[in-house]
Amino acid sequence: MNNMAAIETLNIDERNRQAAEILRTNDRGGYNIPTAGLYPYQWNWDSAFAAWGWSEIDISRAWRELETLFKGQWSTGMVPHIIFHEVDEGYFPGPDVWRTHKSPQTSGITQPPVAATIARKIYEKAPQSGLASVERLFKPMADWHRWFIEQRCESGAVAITHPWESGRDNALDWEAAAEAIDISNVGEYTRRDTSHVNPEMRPRKIDYDRYLALVYLGRDVGWDESKIRELSPFRVADVGMTFILLRACRDLAWLADQIGQSRVEIDGWIAHLEAGCGQLWNEELGCYDSMDLKSGKLSGTKSVASFLCWYAGVDPRTSKTSLEQVMELAPFSLPSLDPASSRFDPKRYWQGPTWPVVNSIVGLGLAEKGETELAERLGKDTFEMILQTGFYEYFTPLTAAGEGGNNFTWTAAVWLAWVTKGPAS
Ligand code: GLC
Repeated sequence: MNNMAAIETLNIDERNRQAAEILRTNDRGGYNIPTAGLYPYQWNWDSAFAAWGWSEIDISRAWRELETLFKGQWSTGMVPHIIFHEVDEGYFPGPDVWRTHKSPQTSGITQPPVAATIARKIYEKAPQSGLASVERLFKPMADWHRWFIEQRCESGAVAITHPWESGRDNALDWEAAAEAIDISNVGEYTRRDTSHVNPEMRPRKIDYDRYLALVYLGRDVGWDESKIRELSPFRVADVGMTFILLRACRDLAWLADQIGQSRVEIDGWIAHLEAGCGQLWNEELGCYDSMDLKSGKLSGTKSVASFLCWYAGVDPRTSKTSLEQVMELAPFSLPSLDPASSRFDPKRYWQGPTWPVVNSIVGLGLAEKGETELAERLGKDTFEMILQTGFYEYFTPLTAAGEGGNNFTWTAAVWLAWVTKGPAS
């Protein structure tokens, strides 16, 4: 081994050690917080990725992460985006604002359903010891997917009722749709996120006003889905959520086969979602896009979620050319927004930065569908960013500088479960 290679191996060993350490430090007893300070509770899709990371260290702890997540499930089937196990004054808006009156206390909206996909990944690593957990989790996961189909898929694609549901809070996909939100009743409030990280890296005040207006609207109607559908000005078919649910249904159907459950109902959901994806194709953009269901207009945004089509197993049409163009413009792929957009901002959250966690699922999809070169590039870029800078929440695609929160659970998790294992893992 030459000197350079030896140094790199040393650094990889060190990053492996740190990643495991981050998972342990962010463990609050059966669940992981995303990072101390900025995100002190259990977040839905973060937790699923945490489970994926844990499966490299401790399989039973991985299953426990998913089982703790489903402890927050509502009787409707919905799995909330935050579970407030222990109140922490450092986060706003907390349970006193959401007022969902659940036990454990939760928010009133959901997040991308990656859990079934991760459950399959963990099960594949150790089928024998995972069987009982899959049997326990199967019904809760199916109930959640059914809730999506019944409450959110009237157009065939998955509607979000709040930008936070998408997991891509301030993505441009819903900026035009969000203009319809009345913020006149929001009043004064103190944000806590901007006291933890640089405000330039966070959503703007107008975005936050809208987030809160939608929380107040949901709260005022007791989080009743049909009333929200009737009264809310905001309903967007999110391309990311749609692709993630479709993929999760395929994995849930596979799990049904493993435990001898019927997959007939799930196959129906898959067919419904496959048909629904068609309306999200934006011919002008050359990729899938999100749609404002109030106006019927596509958003015109080439975002990272557009490139989850391989992961979802839908016909990518000409998406490959679009993806190559985006990757061409970003030294460290995959930026959350096309750098050719006039709104591209390499630091501002979901309007430019590269997110290792999203790279992992886009890359997985590409690798599975035989787009090896692109998948490897995503794997390599993610590797370089983390190796050079550490376990940040996200990175600037121009220089690989780490941004947002540090010691982030999902960045550590995907390092362990995906980056160092190869893009098809
Ligand atoms: C932000 C992200 C979301 C994530 C959460 C906790 O809201 O946009 O995707 O789940 O932080 O990390």
